[in-house]
Amino acid sequence: MMISVQKAAEIIKNGDVAAFPTETVYGLGADAQNISAVKKTFIVKGRPSDNPLIVHISRVEQVHSLAVEIPPEFFMLAEAFWPGPLTIVLKKQRRVPDIVTGGLKTVAIRMPDHPLALELIELTGPLTAPSANPSGKPSPTQAEHADLDYSGKIGVLDGGPTQIGIESTVLDLSSGRPEILRPGAVTAGMIENIINKKVTEATGRNSTHLKSPGTRYTHYKPDASVQWLDKVPVRYDPEIYYILHSGPSPGKERNIHSYQNNFEGLARDLYDHFRTADHLGYRRIYVEKLPVADTNPLIKAIANRVGKAAGSES
Ligand code: TXA
Ligand code: MG
Repeated sequence: MMISVQKAAEIIKNGDVAAFPTETVYGLGADAQNISAVKKTFIVKGRPSDNPLIVHISRVEQVHSLAVEIPPEFFMLAEAFWPGPLTIVLKKQRRVPDIVTGGLKTVAIRMPDHPLALELIELTGPLTAPSANPSGKPSPTQAEHADLDYSGKIGVLDGGPTQIGIESTVLDLSSGRPEILRPGAVTAGMIENIINKKVTEATGRNSTHLKSPGTRYTHYKPDASVQWLDKVPVRYDPEIYYILHSGPSPGKERNIHSYQNNFEGLARDLYDHFRTADHLGYRRIYVEKLPVADTNPLIKAIANRVGKAAGSES
């Protein structure tokens, strides 16, 4: 059910959840101070309770009500990238409910770059918001996705298709060693340029599991199986849904989609392709292997999501 920003604020202030747009993906918002509302988020999504939520804010100074021992790098990054697709993990204030952080001593914070999201947060105060999909499934990049995911039972604030299409970069600033826990549109290099400090990138299981429990679970999976494709085939199998970055110009075939190295477009449409393939009944999705990450800032993040959808760490 589509709702107005006023209605979304009313629902959230009454202790319920509502979906809203951001520049990355749609989020399922709840009042970050309301424990029972945040609990509902976990129940509605079927999300494991040890997977912490991001708190979304509309003004930088709200960070003081959420975090302590905030390092100068935080303010440099907020200045450079907020509002935008960068989530920053800091030591949490005691008043931040444990349910928000999955029992961790840290809290993840971001300011989304979408006028409706900012307007909503101005009305409600800080909002917890995981991606507005049932746990494990691809994130919603259109209002209709979120509406369908919950069979119209959750109010959705429609802000059109999201600009970026994949979730924010998660950067841990809670220790002296800045580390990326989830790659996104803001890269390690872009962060290093601002803070003049080395940024490490957590890869694979061991390093991220302790700090970011969410990485332990399956993510972004459509019903169809997802596989990497080594090279573009000479002949396409009509039973397979193809997502290519360098393949031939897209024709009329509904199962062949080529991006001609437009990685912004690929990121924006990736989850919609996953959903469309399911909707059309395809059992297999092939994604052409991506070039080395350095050639475009989004490649690492896209490869990470496809890798997880395929059931392997990338
Ligand atoms: O782009 C996004 O970040 C979207 C939009 C709605 O803002 N949100 C999103 O939320 O992707 P979610 O819940 O699907 O993913 C949040 C990620 C998870 O991997 C979680 O484990 C991690 O952030 N996270 C949250 N709090 C954390 C913390 N205190 N320490 C480490 N990782 C944390
Ligand atoms: Mg998610």
